[in-house]
Amino acid sequence: MHKDVKEILYSHEQIIEKCEELGKQITKDYQGKELVLVGLLKGSVPFLAALSPYIDLDVTFDYMDVSSYEGVHSRTITIKKDLDHDVKGKDILLVEDILDTGKTLTTVKAMLNERGANSVEIVAMLDKKEGRTYPIEAKYYGFEIPNAFVVGFGLDFDEKYRNLPYVGILKEEVYQ
Ligand code: IMP
Repeated sequence: MHKDVKEILYSHEQIIEKCEELGKQITKDYQGKELVLVGLLKGSVPFLAALSPYIDLDVTFDYMDVSSYEGVHSRTITIKKDLDHDVKGKDILLVEDILDTGKTLTTVKAMLNERGANSVEIVAMLDKKEGRTYPIEAKYYGFEIPNAFVVGFGLDFDEKYRNLPYVGILKEEVYQ
């Protein structure tokens, strides 16, 4: 375990098992649809890579960078990178590492609906339900977690720890 991690919440094996479960459900739900997996950079990349092989459909990938987080405090959203393709008439599944306050995904969802997407839903690896301040839910999520600052499997603190193969709670002394 990394020295800055206090506790492992979900192991690599548990995350992969969950991806298989979610992928099978998504495959059932999106039969006959033109599904676009939209990964929110950078945190969703490991989750998107682990989940997508279990989705047995002709999906396409696109990416957006709308980071609203710096350190441990939420900030105003800025679009650093927009989608490469038109979403009109498409079924969009926003792939996110964690759903916390819901601010990022509320903004992105509204934006893609406005552009004429047929549907916009969310798959989040983690759901921090206690942190929610916006009325938004993920259609699919891997694990519900307590209101702690977590890192690993895409999640960072100051751009570090994204490569950890597990999700763990960061020691408070690292960010205090
Ligand atoms: P929201 O807009 O508050 O839902 O925040 C979503 C974004 O905040 C995520 O994509 C993460 O980048 C970041 N975030 C929220 N909670 C954590 C955490 O516990 N660890 C690392 N990043 C987090």
